Order: sequence, then C-alpha cells, then structure tokens
Amino acid sequence: VADDGDVVVVTGATGRIGGAVARHLLEDGWTVRAVTRTPDSAPARALTARGAEVVAADLDDPGALGRAMAGAAGVFSVQNPMTTGLEAEVRHGCAVADAAAAAAVSHLVYGSAGVGRAGTGVGPWETKLQVQAHMAELGLPVTVLRPMALMELMTDPGFYPAVSTWHLMPRLVGGDRPLPWISADDVGAVAARAFAEPDRFVGADLPLAVDIRSIDECRTVYAAVRGRRPRRIPMPVPVFRRVVGEDLLTMWRWLAEHDLDAGTSATRALLPDAVDVRGFLERHR
Ligand SMILES: NC(=O)c1ccc[n+]([C@@H]2O[C@H](COP(=O)([O-])OP(=O)(O)OC[C@H]3O[C@@H](n4cnc5c(N)ncnc54)[C@H](OP(=O)(O)O)[C@@H]3O)[C@@H](O)[C@H]2O)c1
Repeated sequence: VADDGDVVVVTGATGRIGGAVARHLLEDGWTVRAVTRTPDSAPARALTARGAEVVAADLDDPGALGRAMAGAAGVFSVQNPMTTGLEAEVRHGCAVADAAAAAAVSHLVYGSAGVGRAGTGVGPWETKLQVQAHMAELGLPVTVLRPMALMELMTDPGFYPAVSTWHLMPRLVGGDRPLPWISADDVGAVAARAFAEPDRFVGADLPLAVDIRSIDECRTVYAAVRGRRPRRIPMPVPVFRRVVGEDLLTMWRWLAEHDLDAGTSATRALLPDAVDVRGFLERHR
C-alpha cells in the first residue's frame, strides 16, 4: 500500500485527457484515485485493472469530492464543457479547486485550453480562465496545461470527425491554416512530468503542441497512412449549431483570424518521444 503522499486524484479519469494522465501516473508508480460518476463503466474497469483506485464522485457533490481528496498529494483537474455546458464546467472546476484547497494538496495540475488570455469570446476558453482565477484566489500551487488541438479530433468517433474536423472545421478555419496539434496521450505524459517535478512546474502555464499542420496537410497524411482519404459528411452550419451549439463555431471563426502562438519546441524538449500527426495516425490505424 502506497503512502498517502503518493496519491494523485484524477478527475475526468474515464475520458481522453484524464485517462491518459491516469495511465502515465500509474506507469510512474503513483497511487491514482480515479474520479468517475460511473465506476462500473468499461473505462473505469480498465483503470481498476491497471491498478487505479476508482472512486465514485460527481463533481456536483462537494462531500464526495472531499472524501475523494482526503490525504491526496496532488490533483489533476479536467472538465468537459461540450458534454456538461459552460456553467457546469466553471462550477465543477471551482469545486475541484475548493476540494483541493481544503485537502491542502501540494500540487494541482489543470487541464485547460486555448490561448490563456481573456477576450477571445470563445466560451470554453473563457470558462477556463474563470476557473484559473478561482484557483489563484485560493492560493493553490497550480500548473496550467493548455493542450492545443487534440489529434483525436481526427480519429475519435466521439468528436464526429467526418462532420467537424474534415468538413466544417476547414470550411470555417481555412483548410490551409496551420494549427498546433498534440495527442491526449502526450498531454498525459506532460502532466505526469509536472507531478514528478513540482519545483519546476508549479506556477507554469504551458501551451502544448507537438506538430503544426493545416487540416489539408492532415488530410494528406491521413490518406498516405490509411490508404484512403478521411470520410467527409457535409453538414450545414445552422444544423451543426442546432445539434452541437455555437461554441465550436465561434472557436473556428476565431482560429480563421488569429494564430495560436504555440510553437512545438518547448513540448518537444519536454517529451522527445511525443508523436507527430503522422505517428499518431500510424498508431491509431
Ligand atoms: N478537443 C480538443 O481539441 C481539446 C484541446 C484542448 C483542450 N480541450 C479540453 O479538454 C477538455 C475535455 O477533455 P476530454 O476530451 O478528456 O473529456 P472527456 O473525454 O469527455 O472526459 C470527461 C470526463 O469528465 C467526467 N465527468 C463529466 N461530468 C462529470 C461530473 N459531473 N462529475 C464527475 N465527472 C464528470 C466524465 O466521467 P464519467 O462519465 O465517468 O463520470 C468524463 O469521462 C475540455 O475542457 C476541452 O476544452 C480539448
């Protein structure tokens, strides 16, 4: 049994980013307390099989969150506004921060997103700044990780790549606009590095990107790796707005007019083995 000092609580542990964080922390020998509403789900069972301690807690339940954090040394916090809505994202992010402060954890690593400054009008970026402001008010020792576009956008059915990444995104962003990419697995690897080296990472706010590619380039790499071009399903913007909402459309329009100032050298220096778009698509063939 590991000491309490070795425990890291991971929220979103059944998801893409939190799942990768949990796997890397387990590989590094941490005791991972994986927070989920659904301990019987396949991803939760897979975490148990890898050695995580899966705990049932809803981020809307402060009591359960407090119990999950008891005695923990660290917390990884991530929420998903696309599935919960923007208000719930802020509420959940602040609740995790409150519980982390009450448990006096020595390190909170926050899975953020976006450009890291206010005023973009992109909902799921502005919410994260609100959560970060709350963490700062609490005086928590925080590392902010800002992954740029997830490579999973090209492959994960949950992102509906045929509609979004291969159709509407290039239409709104511009197919030839360079975008910074990183895989969820590599976000997990960076988070594990942050927990391993708190002296280096507490106080840091890191944009994360491993490869810079336009959607047109990604499409070409996809075709080369898979032997066929990615499937494209045309969907009119008003239909997408009705089904998915406005936030991604706002983000894509912002990306059409602004550059994400994220080079790849800092992330590559941290993770020399990080996968580029080609490597990712080969791995997920
Ligand atoms: N897509 C991109 O390109 C990109 C790039 C950078 C950053 N981001 C950011 O990444 C985040 C999304 O991460 P992701 O893709 O890893 O999300 P995800 O796969 O949807 O995972 C989110 C997890 O949150 C858990 N959850 C949801 N509501 C909860 C609640 N009330 N209580 C407890 N747990 C709850 C769910 O676990 P259970 O169902 O098991 O409870 C779920 O597994 C977003 O903030 C997004 O802005 C995305």
